[in-house]
Amino acid sequence: MSLAKAARLVRERAYAPYSNFKVGAALRSTSGGVHVGCNVENVAYPEGTCAEAGAIAAMIAAGDQTIEEIYVIADSPTPVPPCGGCRQKLAEFADGQVKVTLATTTGVEKVMTVAELLPGAFGADHMENA
Ligand code: THU
Repeated sequence: MSLAKAARLVRERAYAPYSNFKVGAALRSTSGGVHVGCNVENVAYPEGTCAEAGAIAAMIAAGDQTIEEIYVIADSPTPVPPCGGCRQKLAEFADGQVKVTLATTTGVEKVMTVAELLPGAFGADHMENA
């Protein structure tokens, strides 16, 4: 299944009763597996999790650790960029050149890279003296 279709399908399962803003994410990891996630909100608002975080958690649970490509979809007038926290999460498991497609449910797509989303990312190389 394409990442676009997987993200569209999982978006339907999002639990977003507080924002009413459903997001779906699908990624392909280096072993070829497709892992999906949706946003899961909570009545204690800060406890909610983003679609991207869910897809990353599914990838890790499946035993993979490297993202090859990711697709994120939301019902928005323009493609929704990942939040700051998700940019850092993506940078943990994806090289800078990895393709991130941001899509709307109406068919608009914007393609970016992880490095464009998070230039100058904090990384393990900054902790050499730790
Ligand atoms: N959200 C995501 O799941 N991913 C994004 O890239 C942007 C925002 C979710 C978090 C929250 O449940 C809702 O969208 C509104 O912020």
